Amino acid sequence: MSNNLLKGKNGIIFGALNDQSIAWKTAQKCHEQGASIVLTNAPIALRMGEINKLAEACNAPVIGADVTNMEDLKNLFTKSMEHFGGKIDFVLHSVGMSMNIRKGNHYTKLNHELEYKTLDISALSLHRVCQTAYEMDAMNEWGSIVGLTYIAAQRVFPDYNEMADAKSLLESIARSFGYHYGVKNKVRINTISQSPTKTTAGSGVKGFDGFINYAEKMSPLGNADANDCANYCVTLFSDLTRMVTMQNLFHDGGFSFTGVTQAVIEQMEK
Ligand SMILES: NC(=O)c1ccc[n+]([C@@H]2O[C@H](COP(=O)([O-])OP(=O)(O)OC[C@H]3O[C@@H](n4cnc5c(N)ncnc54)[C@H](O)[C@@H]3O)[C@@H](O)[C@H]2O)c1
Repeated sequence: MSNNLLKGKNGIIFGALNDQSIAWKTAQKCHEQGASIVLTNAPIALRMGEINKLAEACNAPVIGADVTNMEDLKNLFTKSMEHFGGKIDFVLHSVGMSMNIRKGNHYTKLNHELEYKTLDISALSLHRVCQTAYEMDAMNEWGSIVGLTYIAAQRVFPDYNEMADAKSLLESIARSFGYHYGVKNKVRINTISQSPTKTTAGSGVKGFDGFINYAEKMSPLGNADANDCANYCVTLFSDLTRMVTMQNLFHDGGFSFTGVTQAVIEQMEK
């Protein structure tokens, strides 16, 4: 169902890898709500070819960019503005990758060269995206930039490993850049702290099934899925949330403010 919440708006969506990706669902919802979009992902992800199906369904060009490469980002914003014939109204940063988790390294035994890479891909990249747009004056006033994060930035989830530190940095960048971009162009920047979600990145976390089941039991509304998250992104891209900026917004069925639930107590009593 469309309410045309994003009619006339132009957006760039990072991170649609396959039809489980949060970015994939968000692209579909943005298209449904009347937005014009450009899809982007790392060149290696584009080679898988999946994204072309989404591009066709959303009538969107695909422009490759590695989020750690400033030249790629500049090219992406330049080509996107050419395509739209104008500036950008919203950006979804839905990017994450832990090099140490991939290698199976425990948090107490990180390879720090790999950790730099993790922080660059998963956190500094939001700064890179914002700085590129800021320097190129690529965003329309009241534009909206959204990054995706996880509650391990505030509370310890041991197997989330170095990504907890990456997400803390990501949230801090959203706050700090949100200040500067707000003052300059009234552009807002927020992060959404999403429930555990079955995607390629999510399933990379050790013990993910236990993790997602526990969160389901600990959330009064249950876990928010990727479609719910996509809907929330649409609201943040729309004009209905113009005064929301520099926030970390929990989208987790109430998990973040729940001490314990009856379902968890009953499980423990078994
Ligand atoms: N799945 C979860 O449980 C969950 C929960 C909270 C937050 N998040 C966050 O949501 C975001 C999207 O993840 P997802 O769960 O949809 O998984 P996903 O694996 O579908 O998406 C991650 C994306 O990051 C892209 N990426 C990796 N390195 C890149 C690079 N160098 N340049 C450009 N793109 C690159 C990948 O190609 C992929 O498209 C991530 O930031 C993730 O941390 C996920």
